[in-house]
Amino acid sequence: MTTKPDRYAVMGNPVSHSKSPQIHSLFAAQTAQHLEYQAILVTPGGFATAVNAFRATGGRGLNVTVPFKQDAWIYADVLTSRSERAGAVNTLAFRDNGEVLGENTDGLGLVRDLCGNHGAKLKGKRILLLGAGGAARGILQPLLVQQPASLVIANRTPVKAAELALLFSDLGRVSGLSFPELQGRSFDLIINATATGLDDTVPPLPAGVLGEGGWCYDLMYGVNPTAFVRWGHAHGAARSLDGLGMLVEQAAESFYLWRGVRPDTVAVLQALRKRY
Ligand code: ATR
Repeated sequence: MTTKPDRYAVMGNPVSHSKSPQIHSLFAAQTAQHLEYQAILVTPGGFATAVNAFRATGGRGLNVTVPFKQDAWIYADVLTSRSERAGAVNTLAFRDNGEVLGENTDGLGLVRDLCGNHGAKLKGKRILLLGAGGAARGILQPLLVQQPASLVIANRTPVKAAELALLFSDLGRVSGLSFPELQGRSFDLIINATATGLDDTVPPLPAGVLGEGGWCYDLMYGVNPTAFVRWGHAHGAARSLDGLGMLVEQAAESFYLWRGVRPDTVAVLQALRKRY
C-alpha cells in the first residue's frame, strides 16, 4: 500500500516565480523523503485563513515569503530566539501536538552560503549592511553571532538604521548611519539588503568604502548579475556574490527543521545555476 506524501508549501503574493517548489523537490528526491511541495497564492489579509485550511488538509510545514513574513510571526505559537529578533518568520512547522513553531532561516542561509560554500571568515571583520527594512532585520542576529569587529547599518532613511542598530546592540558593536556618513570608512564585507536592485541600481556609496580584498554580497539574484554584484566587480571586490546560494541554504535549513535530514545544497545550487 502506498502512503500519501507529507504536504509542504510556500505561501506568498506573488508566488508563481518562487523557486522553493523546485528546490524542495530536488532536496526530497536526493534524501528519499516522501513529500510534496506546492506554491500557494494567498490574497492580502487572507494569510491565517489560508494556513488554517492548509493545516486542516494535512499540511506539515510552510515557507512564507513576501508580504506575509510578519503575519507568520504573529501566527506562530512558539518562536525561536532568532525569529523573535527578526520580527519575521519564513518557516512554519506544524508539530504533532498541534503547536506551530516559527523560525527564520534567512540569516542562517546567508551565513552558511558565505562561510560554508565560499569560505568566508566573519570573526573580527568590518561588515557594512545596506538597508534597514525587513530583509536587513532578518539577517542581523546570525551575522552578529559570527562576532564581526563591527557592523554598520547604512540606510537612505538614517533614523531607521539607528533604530535597527539599537534593537540588536546587545549582540555586538552595531551602529546606524546615512550613506553620506560612510565617507572615509571602509569595510571587509558589504551586504546589500536594500530594494534598489528592483530598479537595477545601487545605493549611493562613497569611493573607498570597499576595503582591500573586501567582498560584496547581494541578497537579490537574477538571471543576469545584479546591479550590486556588478558594482562589486567594478570596485575590485575579491568576491561579488548574489543571493542564490542564500536562497538554497535557507531552504535547506527549513527542510532540516521539518525532516531532520540535511540535503546536499551544493548539488542543488549547481542544478539551479544550470537552469538559469
Ligand atoms: P524588504 O523587506 O525587502 O527589506 P522594505 O522593508 O520595504 O523591504 O525595505 C526596503 C529597504 O530598501 C529599505 O532599507 C529602503 O530604504 P528606506 O528605509 O529609506 O525606505 C531601501 N531602499 C528602497 N529603495 C531605495 C533606494 N532607491 N535607494 C536606497 N535605498 C532604498
